[in-house]
Amino acid sequence: MNAIEITGLCKQFTGKRMKKVDALKGLDLTIEAGEVFGFLGPNGAGKSTTIKLVMGLLRPTAGTAQIMGMNAGQAESRRTVGFLPENPAFYDYLSAEEYIAFVGSQFKMDAAVLRQRSEEVLQRLDLWEARKRPMRGYSKGMVQRVGLAQALVHDPDVYILDEPMSGLDPIGRALVKDIILDLKKRGKCVFFSTHITDDVEKVCDRVGVINRGQLLVVDSVANILQRGVEGYTVRVISPSGHTEELFVEKTDLQSFIQQATSNNQSIEQIEPRRKDMEAFFLEIVAQ
Ligand SMILES: Nc1ncnc2c1ncn2[C@@H]1O[C@H](COP(=O)(O)OP(=O)(O)OP(=O)(O)O)[C@@H](O)[C@H]1O
Ligand SMILES: [Mg+2]
Repeated sequence: MNAIEITGLCKQFTGKRMKKVDALKGLDLTIEAGEVFGFLGPNGAGKSTTIKLVMGLLRPTAGTAQIMGMNAGQAESRRTVGFLPENPAFYDYLSAEEYIAFVGSQFKMDAAVLRQRSEEVLQRLDLWEARKRPMRGYSKGMVQRVGLAQALVHDPDVYILDEPMSGLDPIGRALVKDIILDLKKRGKCVFFSTHITDDVEKVCDRVGVINRGQLLVVDSVANILQRGVEGYTVRVISPSGHTEELFVEKTDLQSFIQQATSNNQSIEQIEPRRKDMEAFFLEIVAQ
């Protein structure tokens, strides 16, 4: 069964002076179980709108969204998901520990399991020291980490995270990437939005690029990076022992190797020079 299935999803908002805004224009997307999928798009592209529709927080103008075969918004479908909203805000008079306990109780977790999981996630997100303080005294990054902790506590199979690295410092970002990679190892599905290409390159199996409400490309990260190879930096050693580094065009590599071999040069290293995800993203979005 697919983890998330989105078919013909459209959302039209009525903005100021009854102006119609087509935030999402017929999105079709399938996310498999066990897959980490990066939903990449610039500001205003329609990422959060998609996520809210999948979570049943908005009603679609047309189309459907399902999580684990259940329609968006059904209590059953919500139960299978760990959800991090954009800009999470919590009852700030509660401490992180109290809030996590509240979330766990909403998922009807067994008290002993909840206590153990609460400790695990608070430790993992580096909130253990602060766990008893009211959240009104937390920094922005700490609130974001509470958001992640509450998405993880009931150990669901599917995670829908709206910009999980947002507002975090480099240590926090690395921590979140690590958590996503751990979830992947455990066979969980993670669907997350971002506008930061580096986040996608490091952790995702596949990426979808959305702009102005339309999905422009869906491909595996490996394919995108492979397609981006422009050539190779080759280090050759001449028969006299002199080392030289040369740039070889992608199409010329075979003939270069043959030539070098017949000249008795040895090749020490071949390193692809590629356009990174950032260049790919900018190219797609500029179209
Ligand atoms: N409630 C609303 N009423 C009117 N227009 C809306 C509403 N919510 C979103 N929009 C519009 O829909 C479009 C998509 O917004 P959305 O929040 O989905 O973008 P996003 O990709 O999440 O952007 P960001 O990276 O800034 O979070 C934007 O043009 C936005 O102005
Ligand atoms: Mg958003």
